[in-house]
This record gives sequence, structure tokens and C-alpha cells, in this order.
Amino acid sequence: MSKFRVGLGVSGGIAAYKAVEVMRLLQKAACEVSVAMTRHATEFVQPLTFRALTGGHVIVDDYDPANPDPIAHIKFSQEIDLLLIVPATANIIGKFANGIADDFLSSTYLACTAQVMIAPAMNTTMWEQPATQRNIERLRADGVHFVEPVAGELACKTVGTGKLEDVENIVSQAMRLLSEPPASAGGPDVVTDWPAAYAAGSDLSGERFLITVGGTREAIDPVRFISNHSSGKMGFALAAAARDRGAEVTVVAGVTAAEPPKGVRVLRGISAEEMHSAVKGEIERATVFVGAAAVADYAPVNAADAKIKKEGKEQLTLELKKTPDILAEVSRNRTNGLLVVGFAAETSDVVGYARSKMEKKGLDMVVANDITREGAGFNTDTNIATILTRGGEAIDLPMMPKREMADRILDELVKLR
Ligand code: CTP
Repeated sequence: MSKFRVGLGVSGGIAAYKAVEVMRLLQKAACEVSVAMTRHATEFVQPLTFRALTGGHVIVDDYDPANPDPIAHIKFSQEIDLLLIVPATANIIGKFANGIADDFLSSTYLACTAQVMIAPAMNTTMWEQPATQRNIERLRADGVHFVEPVAGELACKTVGTGKLEDVENIVSQAMRLLSEPPASAGGPDVVTDWPAAYAAGSDLSGERFLITVGGTREAIDPVRFISNHSSGKMGFALAAAARDRGAEVTVVAGVTAAEPPKGVRVLRGISAEEMHSAVKGEIERATVFVGAAAVADYAPVNAADAKIKKEGKEQLTLELKKTPDILAEVSRNRTNGLLVVGFAAETSDVVGYARSKMEKKGLDMVVANDITREGAGFNTDTNIATILTRGGEAIDLPMMPKREMADRILDELVKLR
């Protein structure tokens, strides 16, 4: 039975304990795992834990007299099919990006010819720091793969992006990469005992999706807002489907009732204005933009700073202004083959309105729903839709789960490439 050889690099963060589970899952998937740790990682987990479970020496220091190999970083790095770093701190990412090799793990990276995958975990501010993002960009340009951290409660008790991705997801992404080595890399061509789904279709690999999801909330005063019924289910279903087909997915989420899928980077954009600026910050990296959010078309001109009191007012007039049309702007300013997909929720002449939306906003595809139909629209688990593509025939999709519909939409998207 073929085995993949994975070098698991563990750097010093709270999430280091999760590397033990990653190692177990890799072993279950018939991988041979050897472990390298940074000195700081050993403060969180003992090398003995990995040694007991792998049966191999865990290298922390090249110069350690107990080290069985005098030039371990060369041997270690050249006997693996994948170098997988879990968790990766901002520090180790910085070292890799800048060619610093002052310990075993960073020297291993520099000596490594195998594919490299990095699963970062850190505090949100450290993650968002321009220096960290710059280093990540540089490593991506060098061909390094990332399993992005997700939003959640962090060890420092703040909530934000920086939490290590779910271990199952890290392993599934690693296995997908291993099962599709680049032509020049050689290596085994089958994953023998890993669930088929993990190695299944990756027709979107290399694509970077940016998806707006959910409804926006436009403040009237600190207590009240204008919003809509969007749950985010369709947008999240698309995000999950794109992820499963190999794409890297970032979601800008407004107000949602559904949980974001794992393995997807989630940014928040609660008002139309915030969603607009989050999209502007991300769009340059995207290869596909999907406007699945129900963005409020109008927002109060000035949100009151204090709660509006009803005393002495028999009527209240709210003055509203148009919000930026995110989808139209993305489409207008696009370069380099970005595909742009919009949604149209209509109550009459669905295809007619949707087609005119596609033309007005210059879209490649519109997914149109008649939200008055049973089994379609907001907050349901199913949808009924018509897909319109530029120059193509209208495709009617009968009632089906939103997740299945997401795949049908992506099937049409792939044809546009
Ligand atoms: N959209 C957007 N930004 C806005 C408004 C809408 O990105 N400010 C996107 C939605 O995400 C969706 C599509 O545009 O993909 C919906 O188009 P839109 O013209 O706003 O729909 P309606 O508001 O329903 O249009 P109309 O008022 O013309 O019926």
C-alpha cells in the first residue's frame, strides 16, 4: 500500500495540542508522519507525545547530541511528500517568508523541495497585521498553500479570525494536495484509505472565491435598524461547495442565521457600507465574485447617535440614501478574467428582471428566484431557481436542497471558464 510521507512542523501556539490530532488523522489516512517542533512548541506539547505516537525521534534542535542524524534538516526535508505546519505562528510564517533559517523547522523549510502547506493560528490583530499578511502573500507567490484560520473565540477570549481551522479540514486539504501532486513532483497517485469525498472533484482548485452572504443591517439609531429576511443559507452553501471543489473561499458575511461552513475564511460586513469596504479590501485577490448577500438598497442618511424618543412625535420620517451597489461596482472595475455572479430575488417576471439586472450590472451569471414560491427564497433549506448566463440558455432548477443547488450553480460557472 502506498504511503505519503508527511513532515509535520509544530510551532509555538496554544493550538499546538491540535497537531497531535492532525498527526493521528494523517496516520489513519495511511501517511507516515515525522514531526519537527520549534523550541516554543515544546512549551505547549511534549515531544514525547509525538514520539510515542509516531515511534520516531522528534527533532527540535539540529545540534542536539541525541539527534540521530547530523544533518537532520536536509534529510528530513528531502524524505517527505508534504511539509505541513500546524499551527503556524506569525513568527514562523515571517521566517519562512524571509528565508531565515535559525532553527530546525525554518532550516527544514529552506531545504525543502516538497509541497508546503501552512495552517496558521494566532490572535486576530497579529493575523490582520500588514506584516503577517505581506509574509503570507509572499509565501503564496512562492507556491505555499494555506489553510486559513477561521473566525471564532480565541484563547485570548476575543472573537475574530485567527482560530486554527478544524483539524479534519486541515487533513482533508492536505490529503487533497497529496493526491494531486504537480506533474513534476512524482509521488503516489492514489489515496488508499481516505474517504472518497476528500479526494473528490477539485475542478475549482486554483480559484479564489469572494462571496457576500446574509442580510445587511442599516442603523437608524443605536437600538433600531433596517434589515431583511436573508439567512445566509444559500451563500454559505455556495461557499461550502466551492471549498469542497478545491477553491479557496472568503466570505463577507452580514447578518446570518446559519453557521458559516468550516474551512472558509469569514470576514464581517454588517452594514452595506462595511460590506462594501470589506469587499474592496479583498477583491484584488479574487478570481470569482458572488453577490449572494441581500444588501439593503437604502440606508438612513444619518444614523442618530442617541435613541430616538417617540414623545411629541405622531409621525416620523426617515430619510434614506442609496447604498453602494457592491456587485455592480465589482463588475464595472474588474480586470483579469474575474467572474461575477449575482442573485436576483423577485416576486414577478423573474427571468425578465433578472436578465435586465445581468445586462445593467454586466454580470456573467444571475441566479434568479421567485421568492413567492413555496420551497424558494429566504430562510428555507431548499431553493428553486433559474440560472441565466451571458449568451446562454436559461436553466431551470427545480426545488432542491440549497447545497445541491450550489453545486449546480458551480457546474455552470465552470463552463464559463
Ligand atoms: N447587491 C449588491 N449591493 C447592493 C445591492 C445589491 O451587491 N447595494 C447585489 C446582491 O448581492 C445581489 C444583486 O445585487 O447579487 C441584487 O440586485 P439588486 O439590483 O439590488 O436587486 P434588488 O434590490 O432586488 O433590485 P430591484 O430594486 O431593482 O428590484
